[in-house]
Amino acid sequence: MNFKKKHIILFLVLICFACQENKQIVIEPQIIPAPNNLNITAGEFYLSSNTNLIYDAKLEPAVAYWESLFTPVFGLNTGKANTMRVVLDKSIKNPEAYILDVNTLEITIKASSPKGVFYAVQSLIQLLPPEFIKDGFKSEGINIQTLKIEDNPEFSYRGMHLDVSRHMYPVEFIKKYIDALAILKMNTFHWHLTDDQGWRIEIKKYPKLQEVAAYRKETLIGHYSNQPHQFDGKKYGGYYTQEEVKDIVAYAQKRFITVIPEIEMPGHSQAAIAAYPELGCSGEQVEVATKWGVFEDIYCPKEETFKFLENVLDEVVALFPSEYIHIGGDEAPKTQWKNSSESQALIKSEGLKNEHELQNYFITRMEKYLNSKGKQIIGWDEILEGGLAPNATVMSWRGTNGAVEAAKSGHNVVMTPTSHCYFDYYQSDNDDEPTAIGGYLPLEKVYGFNPIPEELNSEEAKYILGAQGNIWTEYMPTSEQAEYMAFPRILAMSEVVWTNAENKNYEDFVSRVENFHKRLDVLDINYANHLFEINGEMNSVNSKSFYKLETLTEGKDIRYTLDGNEPTVTSQIYRSQIPISKSLELKAAVFNAKEQLGQPFIQNINFHKAVGAKITIDKTPHKAYSGSGAEGLINGINGSDSRYGDKEWLGFWGEDIIITIYFSKPKEINSISTRFHNGNGQWIYAPEEIGFSFKLQEDGRTLNDINRIKNNGGIIVNHSYKVEPTFVSQIEIVVKNYGEIPEGKQGAGNNAWTFIDEIIVN
Ligand code: ACM
Repeated sequence: MNFKKKHIILFLVLICFACQENKQIVIEPQIIPAPNNLNITAGEFYLSSNTNLIYDAKLEPAVAYWESLFTPVFGLNTGKANTMRVVLDKSIKNPEAYILDVNTLEITIKASSPKGVFYAVQSLIQLLPPEFIKDGFKSEGINIQTLKIEDNPEFSYRGMHLDVSRHMYPVEFIKKYIDALAILKMNTFHWHLTDDQGWRIEIKKYPKLQEVAAYRKETLIGHYSNQPHQFDGKKYGGYYTQEEVKDIVAYAQKRFITVIPEIEMPGHSQAAIAAYPELGCSGEQVEVATKWGVFEDIYCPKEETFKFLENVLDEVVALFPSEYIHIGGDEAPKTQWKNSSESQALIKSEGLKNEHELQNYFITRMEKYLNSKGKQIIGWDEILEGGLAPNATVMSWRGTNGAVEAAKSGHNVVMTPTSHCYFDYYQSDNDDEPTAIGGYLPLEKVYGFNPIPEELNSEEAKYILGAQGNIWTEYMPTSEQAEYMAFPRILAMSEVVWTNAENKNYEDFVSRVENFHKRLDVLDINYANHLFEINGEMNSVNSKSFYKLETLTEGKDIRYTLDGNEPTVTSQIYRSQIPISKSLELKAAVFNAKEQLGQPFIQNINFHKAVGAKITIDKTPHKAYSGSGAEGLINGINGSDSRYGDKEWLGFWGEDIIITIYFSKPKEINSISTRFHNGNGQWIYAPEEIGFSFKLQEDGRTLNDINRIKNNGGIIVNHSYKVEPTFVSQIEIVVKNYGEIPEGKQGAGNNAWTFIDEIIVN
């Protein structure tokens, strides 16, 4: 933001003198997403039913939205005390840009399109008390801070996704979600309507999509990695009728939000194949999937299938005015195509090299069809494999390589890498969090996302249209749970796509989020509140170790204990880093003067022999999973079992690594334990082999040993290596990557990730 906190405080003091007269509190501008130019001036504007609304008729659609909120609260404009003027200004180039100028006599909004006016109105609403948007407030009018905002978005695609296949939500919730997007100046709702676990859009030509594909007989209980799998025995499902879809699309349009429907192909199509087995290659009856993951039953590339998809798309195209139709394209195992005579015949007749090129043929054919209907396709980054359909836009989710490849070849890209955009990951490392798919994506990491991959030059960067947060709903059975995962990360995403890098500041954002909670309360949105949680970090300097605690919100104390007792208002206040020289359990919490805020923070520190030693790794961890660097592998702290993305885990994609630990003085050791993550759903596979070598103290000789790692399929794979007590000056550990994931396993055909955390030396 281009104004300073101290200026705000000065103005608020001035305003408070002013407001004593008419007992009005003026809201401090704390707009999310942060406007790109905001200048606060000293003064206020009194908005009431005496405010005369004057507007250009061409801007009516956005003004109507304002009036729909304003009129029930204030009544019709009756007087001429002051003016709110909405002006069409064609000199404003970007149709999404706006100027909002509030002085003591007039509110002026300028934009070159209704959309710009709509965003000005959203900023204006955030200058009003939160209650305004819902119920109005019981006063005649309200004082507004005088200011001038000149604002325009950084990216043209500002989206949120919602999967309604794994779990579905009432129409009212979909509208509430769209409202939230509108408040945050997002412009795209990516509606994931079909998947293995349920088909959710009415297609009149194919009644079995409603009768069969929309329902699964039961649903997996608990996390996928809990073995053996158990099911709830309850039929689950439903679908949105075409009337409901039309209603939702119209509702979104009034809020300047484009709805992009996703109809998955060729993979994630088991529900459709359950309804119409002839669409698959085997022709066998399958059931709508009852658990999560990737399934082998995919559409078979034959005329019958193409005709089915064209007919489905005809109905979809008629319902959605969006330029784009999302055709999925992700995670389509090719085993059935390899074994199907029709697929092989098509490969031959079309002169294709393999099944990947067959996928390209499939997607390109559907693209041609949609182009002929005036639509463009967008697909997950697997659509790059085997060649990219000529006009396709790529949604890059498996890291950023797909984005780089697509942008360099002149294709548009929307960024949704798992590392920063998957809001189905855990958002806190607190153990009380509801079950999530895995991974760790806290608010700060979302906020820090830069949609432009560093490999692109400024010309190539123009192909990056923007970014999107994804809500995959395997572990979100209720709309409350979906909200909990979306909020507040969606606030961070709105700023990622709207606000320039120069105007972004995480601390300032956090203070605005704390303030925004009141708005979310009024809107009855179930948000996660981790603002009063503590971040901890172990540091070692010159073989001495310290633990640092931090909290983001200002004006509060951290209190802690080292004896296992719960922290209370009388526990020691944290003032500087805590020296650590033995294993212990640290507990801490944030307090204001009288009470504990937020959840307690608990850290077990295992002060083993390598803590504080020097460590190197021959490869750099993947930039999205660099944790707290190599030192984090010997800092005495285990990463979370369920959140491989926390700062203790290091992630490497498809690489072998060599880790070397150096002791300043030789140490007597007798065991080394390693921990690997094995979250196969996220393509993380524990290595099968690990090598150890030691430099012995007495003669500098090295001892080498290679171990097979026992993997019982759990989410964490531990390996312990015992040796006769030996004095060593150096340990080298060679970790072999699992390699390319074989057919039949999750992520087949991709390189496996290796995730490693604490190496415990005793
Ligand atoms: C995806 O998460 N399978 C796009």
